[in-house]
Amino acid sequence: YVEQREYLVGGELRMWGGDLNPVRSPVFVKTARGVEQKVIGATPLLTSQESLEALSAAVKAYDHGRGAWPSMRVAERIEHVERFLVAMRAQRTAVVNLLMWEIGKTQGDSEKEFDRTIDLIVETIRALKELDRTSSRFVQEQGIMAQIRRAPIGVALCMGPYNYPLNETFSTLFPALLMGNAVIFKPAKFGVLLIRPLLEAFRDCFPPGVINIIYGRGRETVGALMESGQVDLFAFIGTNKGASELKRMHPRPHRLKSVLGLDAKNPAIILDDADLDNTVKECITGTLSFNGQRCTALKVLLVHRKVVKPFLERFSAAVDKLKPGMPWTPGVALTPLPEPGKTDYLRGLVDDAVSKGAKVVNELGGKVNQSFFFPAVVYPVTRDMRLATEEQFGPVIPVMVFDEDEEAVRYVVESQFGQQLSLFGQDSARIGKFIDAFANQVGRINLNCQCQRGPDTFPFNGRKDSAEGTLSVADALRVFSIRTLVAAKTT
Ligand code: G3H
Repeated sequence: YVEQREYLVGGELRMWGGDLNPVRSPVFVKTARGVEQKVIGATPLLTSQESLEALSAAVKAYDHGRGAWPSMRVAERIEHVERFLVAMRAQRTAVVNLLMWEIGKTQGDSEKEFDRTIDLIVETIRALKELDRTSSRFVQEQGIMAQIRRAPIGVALCMGPYNYPLNETFSTLFPALLMGNAVIFKPAKFGVLLIRPLLEAFRDCFPPGVINIIYGRGRETVGALMESGQVDLFAFIGTNKGASELKRMHPRPHRLKSVLGLDAKNPAIILDDADLDNTVKECITGTLSFNGQRCTALKVLLVHRKVVKPFLERFSAAVDKLKPGMPWTPGVALTPLPEPGKTDYLRGLVDDAVSKGAKVVNELGGKVNQSFFFPAVVYPVTRDMRLATEEQFGPVIPVMVFDEDEEAVRYVVESQFGQQLSLFGQDSARIGKFIDAFANQVGRINLNCQCQRGPDTFPFNGRKDSAEGTLSVADALRVFSIRTLVAAKTT
């Protein structure tokens, strides 16, 4: 049990004396009252006042770009981040443990998230050195000599999702810091305690006010920041609803630069000549790693009628073989879900489809035990069912059938979302036609493999309601900075 009262403002770990927010694990345990979700800690329920104090600290540290941090040489800023990395590495066990307890991520995936985050920061440093080298170069054109400088933007607010509470938040927070911005960071709703082991390192490795970490209800704490109009950069990975509500609160939206990773409904299109062994393998991890709680998960399978039967047989059998268990148990693939009420929500999606004519085709599909939901393969899903378009963000796999390639194309172009998609098939001319049709519809087209974000050095973005701006190591550095031209006439 971690009772956390500390939060970070202006280089101080302040102690909160007010109400606390209990942190419940998705893992159920036996207690004197029966079987219930284990309370594993609590975090401060700060108010708008503390949140605005964090803002003042950030504004002061930035000081219109004249503060020590934004005016520091890049090499020196990198040294601060490298010191942080040393301290962060020492907290691997504590953070990995909390990833398992707080969000139910398997041990292997929790370790991967931690290590991947370290790699991402290291790569960001490498990319910054490169950017610094190239952007300080002089260019000469039409009688003008110019140097294009990269300058910070101001105060950044960074918020990430519960499914990658470390990796995704740090993928915006560190580029923001490295480019010289001052940051306010509000950890995710679940996966919040795991920042506690890093608070001292944040305090010790950065000048006061450069990084401020606040806790509490979003509307109150983050709402106050947005309404102040003093947030210059908004880095948010979460839902469309959350992002638009917060953006709307900013009194000068034209002054707010946003980078957003939002909802997705990534389809896999499985053609009649697809290699079914590979397709099933990729679709299992694509739909179900971390119980389908990845923004990049495959969230609907569109299968050609000629192969739908063999595909469903093999896919359902493979789903039913997946082992549920606790995150720390070796070989486990399915773990408890952290969102309260999630099993009811998923049940509702399945019931809606079933009431309109679909079936759960795998034997174990939809069985609920505490916060476990055994993956349900639902077929045939049609356009009138919620599962056809709604992002389930969990272990329900809608399967739709198509006869003509054009039907699959239409599904994608008519979708509200456009993050990624996967194409499974062998005929390169046919695949080429799909690629042409989709190149302006999604951020990434995966051929004969599942959707995924990595490697983190690749651009990560999306179209339509799925994203705004591009993240990745090098792109993020551009997002969190602005180019200033220093130009002089040479003739
Ligand atoms: O939830 C969205 C993540 O960025 C997905 O990352 O594809 O590596 O699981 P991933």
